Amino acid sequence: MTTPNLRETQTDLAERYEAFQAMKLKLDMTRGKPANEQLDLAKGLLECVTSDDFKALDGTDTRNYGGLEGLPEARALFAAYFGVKPAEVLIGGNSSLQLMFDTLLRAHVFGVPGGERPWGREEKVRWLCPAPGYDRHFAITAHLGYELVTVPMTGHGPDMDVVERLALDPSVKGIWIVPKYANPTGESVSAENVARLAHMKAGAPDFRIIWDDAYAVHHLGPERDEVPNILDACQSAGHPNRVFIFGSTSKISHAGAGLSAMAANEANITWTKLHAGKQTIGPDKVNQLRHVRYFKDMHGIERHMDKHATIMKPKFDAVLRVLEEELGGTHLATWTTPRGGYFVSLDTPPGHAKNVVRLAAEAGVKLTEAGATFPYGKDPDDRNIRLAPSFPTLLEIELATRVVATCVKLSWAQRA
Ligand SMILES: Cc1ncc(COP(=O)(O)O)c(C=O)c1O
Repeated sequence: MTTPNLRETQTDLAERYEAFQAMKLKLDMTRGKPANEQLDLAKGLLECVTSDDFKALDGTDTRNYGGLEGLPEARALFAAYFGVKPAEVLIGGNSSLQLMFDTLLRAHVFGVPGGERPWGREEKVRWLCPAPGYDRHFAITAHLGYELVTVPMTGHGPDMDVVERLALDPSVKGIWIVPKYANPTGESVSAENVARLAHMKAGAPDFRIIWDDAYAVHHLGPERDEVPNILDACQSAGHPNRVFIFGSTSKISHAGAGLSAMAANEANITWTKLHAGKQTIGPDKVNQLRHVRYFKDMHGIERHMDKHATIMKPKFDAVLRVLEEELGGTHLATWTTPRGGYFVSLDTPPGHAKNVVRLAAEAGVKLTEAGATFPYGKDPDDRNIRLAPSFPTLLEIELATRVVATCVKLSWAQRA
């Protein structure tokens, strides 16, 4: 790291910090929740199915039992979303995280196609966790008792040299990947890395990629990241069973009241249906019909996401502008400038993230706990902080970011 260079003295910073404390702020930049304004964009969704108009295109009464795979029109919509065939899609409930949890739990209890035994009967299961990453992903694999193995991120996805080496270990059963605008770094997996993930040799015959396409259409502006189709890549690399794809409309329509879906090849879909059919008679078709009627097709989803971008972009710009004003040229911190997604990832000098989060909290700004973006909640360098600008107002974001940046400088000055 280049030697940091602070423009303000410790006394200046302490005074600024005390002034923030005197404001008795109550700001929250913890979780990536859509703002109310964003939820309002889907006004009308709830009226798309009425008590007189509840039949799917094929005449299915959506109020009644059945339809484990999802309505044909909902499968077609998500097929376009994932870039796969409708037969390769299953519609879930309100949460893609739940679909991921269920998929791993089924693998744990029953084993997946191509495996020799259930993962729960293996002596040891290890799981690759590109980090900084999504805390709830890491929590699922930790909950199953798997050993989490940290893989560094590169700005274009996980470090594939490390992934390829670790994947040769037969106890490594899989990897978490957020392919586009990842949580929290905002980076997307490059075409080269998609090909390497598809082609690499895995020691476990039942190795799986959990491809969480949570931010597939969540662009901030006209400059967009594109990620090649992983199902096609795995199929042409001769590893057709390798990937499960997930997504949801949580940050398109309503968070926690949207529609989730998964995609995979025929063997994995048949396997999923076998187990899901014991778990439920079928997901909520009324909600599927609402979504299909509201969005109609991918074009409808894309136009809708343009409206989200007009709300989100100024918020991201505010974070980036304030970080630059406060920390630019100080060599004290680096941060990401994502083209989509929900987060800005801030790196403080090593050993300062926890202290910055504490200082910010004591000045009334709640941040995601330092360490949360790493397996077991432990950032080995104690430097990463996830900023989530979606929920607060623009003014709140500017102020909260200024507090955070001041805390970075104060933390450094106090220890220098
Ligand atoms: C990468 C990622 N996957 C999944 C989710 C949650 O998705 P869902 O609401 O569909 O369960 C989130 C929410 O923040 C996320 O960041």
